[in-house]
Amino acid sequence: MMQGGAQTPLQHLTTLLGADCIVTEPTALEAVNIDQLRTYRGRALCIALPRSTADVSRLLKLCNALRIPVVPQGGNTGYCGAATPDASGTQVVLSLRRLNAIRSVDPANYSMVVEAGCILADVQRAAATAERFFPLSLGAEGSCQIGGNLSTNAGGVNVLRYGMMRELTLGLEVVLADGRVLSSLTALRKDNTGYDLRQLFIGAEGTLGVITAASLKLFPAPRASATAFVAIPDPERAVQLLSHLREASGDQVSSFELIPAVALELVTRHIPGARRPLDADSPWYVLCELTSPRVGEPLEHRLEDALAEAMERGLATDAVLAQSERDRREFWQLRENIPHSQRLEGMSLKHDVSIPIDRLPRFVARASAWLETHVAEGFLVCYGHVGDGNLHFNLNERRGVPPGTLAARREEIRRIIHNLVQDEGGSFSAEHGIGQSKLAELQHYADPVELNLMRTLKRTLDPNGILNPGKVLNVA
Ligand code: MLT
Ligand code: ZN
Repeated sequence: MMQGGAQTPLQHLTTLLGADCIVTEPTALEAVNIDQLRTYRGRALCIALPRSTADVSRLLKLCNALRIPVVPQGGNTGYCGAATPDASGTQVVLSLRRLNAIRSVDPANYSMVVEAGCILADVQRAAATAERFFPLSLGAEGSCQIGGNLSTNAGGVNVLRYGMMRELTLGLEVVLADGRVLSSLTALRKDNTGYDLRQLFIGAEGTLGVITAASLKLFPAPRASATAFVAIPDPERAVQLLSHLREASGDQVSSFELIPAVALELVTRHIPGARRPLDADSPWYVLCELTSPRVGEPLEHRLEDALAEAMERGLATDAVLAQSERDRREFWQLRENIPHSQRLEGMSLKHDVSIPIDRLPRFVARASAWLETHVAEGFLVCYGHVGDGNLHFNLNERRGVPPGTLAARREEIRRIIHNLVQDEGGSFSAEHGIGQSKLAELQHYADPVELNLMRTLKRTLDPNGILNPGKVLNVA
């Protein structure tokens, strides 16, 4: 309660940035108060829409002085509730959507500098206009923002060849909790001047600082590609097929995605126009793509030959190559529509896990067997970036069970699955982050020394705990 003539936090913020940078309109607040999976709902004090890094700096300085909590939010496409405010009505949602300039593209240095509010697809387009390639690619690329991609260390479908956001970032501009600006937008590939601070902020989900711009790596644009939809007997053969294709293609595999029969069934049932690429049924499929920057490289022949050999060796049972760009897009739409089809089918539980690739088939067998005997209310939809050892080991609620039955078992099921992941040397968070949904998991599975160091870093960089409190770590 504010006394006498003292200003409220909202008045302070409005005075600082101007009324056109502070939004309290209920429909706008509703959109930021809820996450895209509709698992978390909060109540923001307002949305702050700064116009520049200097604005972000002034905003954080004020929030730090007044202890106003700040929740950075990009395109609000995350899965772990990292960008959702709590229910207190005191937190400012910080949107960087006005910081959406492509500051520079440097084709000779294969790099570009972009602001955090840029939509990922716009970053890809700006690179393509300069005849370069920015490889981060994921289902939400038309609406997610690069600041969110950096803050969650996003992965997607090209990690196998190009790496995650950590590998794609050369430098950062970050506003610290007290408003100081760490300006390190270097484009250097080699720079051993002390600690690598940029990696602290990538994947920190806005808990250590607010990323306002980034210097990103670019690559030669792909000029040739070959894409195949392949039927395989089991995940074990998927792993062997990947090795075979990497060798046979001269390591030109850029994507290698696992799709189970049930996912194909969901997509073809829910998405108008989606059709099966192969007639015969198979329990599993792989969508794989070879790419090369060399115009006219005969990748189709190479893939065809490699797949023929794979079939002789029993690694695959059938395959079809995309004959046109339209075929290729259709194959990819089947893959990209799996999460959407899962949502259309009903409630689901997500487990974004990674396993060393040689142990991945055993994990799938063990975890599937447990689910079959113990979880009658759900069915498994296990798909993902098998080339990176990353599976989306998701469960959908079965039709006919009383709604909420599967959700009621969320914690129990995920603990068992994550225990199996740990047992196989894997991680319970591969590419979606921690947010609020996996906070307890981090606490449970992280090495105590690691957890302690993380807390020390958090306290050092954000002593007043204003940056995205309650996400990633609980800090007393
Ligand atoms: C995907 O790869 O489609 C997403 O990361 C996974 C998901 O939506 O569960
Ligand atoms: Zn994914």
